[in-house]
Amino acid sequence: MNIDKLKDKVERGISSIKTIEDVRKVKAYLVGRKGIFSEYIDTIKSLDKEERKVFGKEINSLKVSTENRLREIETRYEAEERRKEEQASLIDITMPGKIPLIGKKHPITQTFDEIIRIFASLGFSVAEGPDIESDYYNFEALNIPKDHPARDMQDTFYIKQGVVLRTHTSPVQVRVMESQLPPVKIIAPGAVYRCDNDISHTPMFHQVEGLMVDKNVKFSDLKGILSIFVHEMFGTKTPLRFRPSYFPFTEPSAEVDIGCVICNGDGCRVCKETGWLEILGSGMVHPQVFRIVGYDPEEVTGFAFGMGVERIAMLKFGIDDIRQFYYNDLRFLSQF
Ligand code: PHE
Repeated sequence: MNIDKLKDKVERGISSIKTIEDVRKVKAYLVGRKGIFSEYIDTIKSLDKEERKVFGKEINSLKVSTENRLREIETRYEAEERRKEEQASLIDITMPGKIPLIGKKHPITQTFDEIIRIFASLGFSVAEGPDIESDYYNFEALNIPKDHPARDMQDTFYIKQGVVLRTHTSPVQVRVMESQLPPVKIIAPGAVYRCDNDISHTPMFHQVEGLMVDKNVKFSDLKGILSIFVHEMFGTKTPLRFRPSYFPFTEPSAEVDIGCVICNGDGCRVCKETGWLEILGSGMVHPQVFRIVGYDPEEVTGFAFGMGVERIAMLKFGIDDIRQFYYNDLRFLSQF
């Protein structure tokens, strides 16, 4: 019986350990059920009683110390393994970052901002009114008679009898004048609604109303203010013209066209070959509207206008289909 040989196997086994798998293999090889120690224990059975006692003791103490050493090594490797797993679950700082999508303002909002900026620089303040409006403010107080075609169900969204989605921002004129004495110098931006849907109409669109009332406000003031606006918005070389028109709440009334910014007046699809594009309706406030809100038409005069924001945005950005604004397609929206 060569105990030194056994000791040698134990030492070589233990020093060969490099991984946690090695620990398990060496454990089975040395102290496992069919391991080296079992073999030795089996062979001492054939020795005589005295020898058996001596060798048995020695082998046994060697086995216990080997088991202890292996257990200690195993604990060390297991701790190392756990540490590696934990580290793998931590944030990998070498990974390329995700760039968040930076939002931006909708082109209609950008256009609103620009219009408001220009009129604010001319001394106008911003007023607002409700989108759901009474028949009274939307039509009646604006001198729009009961049989006016604008009141037709085909143009107007009725919520119920006497309540509509406002078809223009002009009711804000009435609300503002009712609530304050002259002078008045406001613009009223907001959404308006008409039962219409095609390449140049959406059921919801936007307007900016303007109203200036004071002693001695003249048509030339309207022309001056709108000229400044157009030149600020589209450049000083953009021509504009006033075309006689009709609105029940202004007298006289005019529509304003600007020289087509797409073709520079040569004529194209957008301006329908006319070289001109209509951007707003305007006029001098009708004396009847003043009477309705309690202003004296002998005392004050005023002008009003209402411009289509989508129209202006389309011209500013060169867009030829109004519906694009409301498809919510980022490929379109992120261009502006
Ligand atoms: N409210 C009119 C429209 O929507 C525009 C307008 C406003 C005309 C103010 C004259 C004065 O068509």
